[in-house]
Amino acid sequence: MASKASRWADDGEDAALEAQRKKEKEEKKRLKAEKARKLEAEKQAREAAAEAAEAEAASQQQDTDSANGPPSKRRKVSPERATSNGAANSSRLLRFEGGTFTKSRSVENYDKLNDIEEGAYGWVSRARELSTGKVVALKRLKIDPKDRGGLPVTGLREIQILKDCDHRNIVKLREVVVGDDTSKIENIFLVLEFLEHDLKSILEDMPQPFLASEVKTLLLQLASGLSYLHDSYILHRDLKTSNLLLSNRGVLKIADFGMARYVSIPPPPKLTQLVVTLWYRAPELLLGSSRYTSAIDMWSLGCVFGELLTREPLLQGKNEVDELAKIFELCGIPTEESWPGFRRLPNARGLRLPPSAGGGAAAGSIIRAKFPLLTLAGVSLLSSLLALDPERRPTAKEVLDHEYFRQDPKPKSEAMFPTFPSKAGQERTRRRETPNAPGRGEKLADLGQIDFSGIFAGREMEERGGGFSLRMV
Ligand SMILES: Nc1ncnc2c1ncn2[C@@H]1O[C@H](COP(=O)(O)OP(=O)(O)OP(=O)(O)O)[C@@H](O)[C@H]1O
Ligand SMILES: [Mg+2]
Repeated sequence: MASKASRWADDGEDAALEAQRKKEKEEKKRLKAEKARKLEAEKQAREAAAEAAEAEAASQQQDTDSANGPPSKRRKVSPERATSNGAANSSRLLRFEGGTFTKSRSVENYDKLNDIEEGAYGWVSRARELSTGKVVALKRLKIDPKDRGGLPVTGLREIQILKDCDHRNIVKLREVVVGDDTSKIENIFLVLEFLEHDLKSILEDMPQPFLASEVKTLLLQLASGLSYLHDSYILHRDLKTSNLLLSNRGVLKIADFGMARYVSIPPPPKLTQLVVTLWYRAPELLLGSSRYTSAIDMWSLGCVFGELLTREPLLQGKNEVDELAKIFELCGIPTEESWPGFRRLPNARGLRLPPSAGGGAAAGSIIRAKFPLLTLAGVSLLSSLLALDPERRPTAKEVLDHEYFRQDPKPKSEAMFPTFPSKAGQERTRRRETPNAPGRGEKLADLGQIDFSGIFAGREMEERGGGFSLRMV
């Protein structure tokens, strides 16, 4: 090798040259070793400083994130570049900052206060961060047997989407923490900002319905969060009152992104049809459409609007067929005019429908009869959200600009919003009688041949003018 004397060094001049080369090499080696020592010392110093600040940094990280948006989450961990001497030039390569993986903190950093919700799969509790005293909500990742021990795709999507979102009407993910045995999926927890209520519990307990001004404030916030999601190519796919949180300061936040996903425009051709809890599920989904758009969330928003007005879920079908029947009763029988092309949807081919009872106009009159206190602008907004044809539903942005919100009574300021006793802050586990979001991989109901032709039988007595109204209970 190079350290041996050259076999060709047969005269004095060669020997001198060889000695010179050797000397240079040794000098280079010495410089290199010195530089490595220097870098190692610097690295150790940095690590010591980072360790000391770790707890502090982790808690402050989330606050900084919310102020500066997602990019600030990336901490720089690549080594400092060499600063002095010519050797530094050798490291002047193009460097691309990759994402960094940092170890998740332990759930032991939190002290559980009380359960908020414990269902068949889900588990959410109120907890306090030991180092800061901050109250948070801990949500345990659901196990999905289909993922055979791996991370459930729904959980991964929920984490990814919540990490990417930064909007005052979307619940904030502070961090993800793990229990001792990280091999178990149920030992992964989302740490979310805590909000005192969900809209469902408030509606169940409040003695009087929300005032019109309060409904407007809530709807505006919901539409604002939804507009942000849709602008970011995210479909929520499970909007319902139990997934909408409300703080004691009147701020509404969209939560539960277990069903959410990113979509392209136009949407991919084969999205799963089994999404959205039955009572909030749009007719195109019930009829088997797999190429749906953000209009499915707008339908759910219409259902939430109706529920805010009456405190009762609007369309409480017992199963898919019954849900469709309830939709047709409220929104009219679909026709080629009211919903062009609906017959091409997989489950629509076998539908036997009664002759149209006036189409959209009749639908408007039924909605008006069901919500007698709602202004005309309110009825127009609600009917448009509940349009059978997804193309005719307004976008979230259009909802924000709707006449309804400009009319008196004006939306109530959030600061003036009433406060409610918090269920989530009490030692109590709630059980729901309402249907759950569909599970992944569940079988889609085959609606087969459905006969809706007798859907209005017995209602002839109630007919009024050109349309008809339903018995109100
Ligand atoms: N950040 C939070 N602050 C306070 N309560 C919360 C929070 N997140 C969730 N909850 C409560 O826990 C309930 C369940 O949460 P979430 O919907 O996210 O979980 P889930 O297990 O997916 O529920 P489900 O399957 O019942 O829809 C909510 O309805 C709400 O009452
Ligand atoms: Mg939920």
